[in-house]
Amino acid sequence: MSSLLLARNGRRAISVIGWGRRGTDALSGVHPVTRRFIIDMSYSAHFMDFKGSSIPSSMKKLVVTKLSPNFREAVSMQTVAVPTPGDADLLVRNRFVGINASDINFSAGRYDPSLKPPFDAGFEGIGEVVGLGLSASSRYTVGDTVAYFGSGAFAEYTVVPAKESVPVPAVKPEFLTLLVSGATAYIALKRLGDLAEGETVLVTAAAGGTGQFAVQFAKQAGCHVIGTCSSNEKAGFLKSLGCNRPINYTSEDLAKTLKKEYPKGIDVVYESVGGSVLELAVNRLANKGRLIVIGFISGYQTASGIPPFTGGTLPVKLLQKSASIRGFFLPHFLSDYREALGSMMQMFAKGKLVCEVDCGDLAQGGEICRLGVSLQGCGLHVCWEKPGQGGGGSGTTLC
Ligand SMILES: NC(=O)c1ccc[n+]([C@@H]2O[C@H](COP(=O)([O-])OP(=O)(O)OC[C@H]3O[C@@H](n4cnc5c(N)ncnc54)[C@H](OP(=O)(O)O)[C@@H]3O)[C@@H](O)[C@H]2O)c1
Repeated sequence: MSSLLLARNGRRAISVIGWGRRGTDALSGVHPVTRRFIIDMSYSAHFMDFKGSSIPSSMKKLVVTKLSPNFREAVSMQTVAVPTPGDADLLVRNRFVGINASDINFSAGRYDPSLKPPFDAGFEGIGEVVGLGLSASSRYTVGDTVAYFGSGAFAEYTVVPAKESVPVPAVKPEFLTLLVSGATAYIALKRLGDLAEGETVLVTAAAGGTGQFAVQFAKQAGCHVIGTCSSNEKAGFLKSLGCNRPINYTSEDLAKTLKKEYPKGIDVVYESVGGSVLELAVNRLANKGRLIVIGFISGYQTASGIPPFTGGTLPVKLLQKSASIRGFFLPHFLSDYREALGSMMQMFAKGKLVCEVDCGDLAQGGEICRLGVSLQGCGLHVCWEKPGQGGGGSGTTLC
């Protein structure tokens, strides 16, 4: 597989990049930067880290300099000044940032066609507040740990509007999985799924970042859950989440299995793959079935980003079953976001939600420095999945 996040042979819950782990400053002694101590009059209108650490004058960040679904081609590492937070902002020292399939679409310019390079990359980060504006200080203080879903996360430091950040009890990468992957499953199933106890739910790409959450939320709603995946190890992982019928589509014929084992059809489909899988799922919808379009990952590496879909007979298929297809895009549901995160964090704290993280510690050559010489010595590493721990295979690749 040649691109970030599109690796098929490993469980890809979420990948994370760690920056300066275990509370140390990654830049320290790694590359020479002029260090700017936090007692700095240029920040006199702001509260900066008074706990003894220092903020360097410059930092590294990944910038999309060319639109491409190939992440390696799309981004370059730049050294820029550490930004100053505005009145209502936090300056967050990122400790982990999450990588999702969505980052591919973003770097290819598909989410916002009006956005022209150069622009910052990365949506999800978690770290400590090291500086903040005056208004932001009514809710936060230096040293707080926060997670955020915003832009420019692939940087050592990111300025985040305080109202877009979420306090978290610790800098654990598991919280990152909730920001996009978890929130997408939670809100999409709640708002568009209309799940009822006893219904049958099909989750495609079920062992992936958002799929793992869709499986768990559908189970919590009392549904019978079917999950598709490409390996026996992933099928085992799905079983461990409570999935009733994992289907490894590399060893079982998906269409035949669904037809034979679910003759009445599927009530709800959480669909991330697109193309032929979408067509198959439409054909297997039950009366009054609902199919939620979450993504179409099978086309992300093509020029258009959209896999082919023969929709000619779609109206009649939907009419005959009173079925519906519903699109879901997380940024359109931000009013549900805070409740979703709060609820998921409680579930996680009580041990009722598995947030599988792809940290990739064991992956050979998994360091982000593979991206290019400009990254060498920056103290970053990319996290890969762990072969043999449910993921199997070669791991998510950055490029
Ligand atoms: N609508 C929204 O707001 C929203 C938000 C977040 C994510 N998404 C979408 O949700 C989908 C999953 O995202 P994710 O972050 O969960 O991804 P992920 O963790 O990278 O998982 C993707 C999985 O898809 C499966 N897959 C099936 N066919 C594939 C193909 N042709 N190429 C590559 N992978 C294929 C692979 O698992 P197997 O090998 O087991 O099949 C792969 O591991 C994507 O389409 C993404 O765009 C949408």
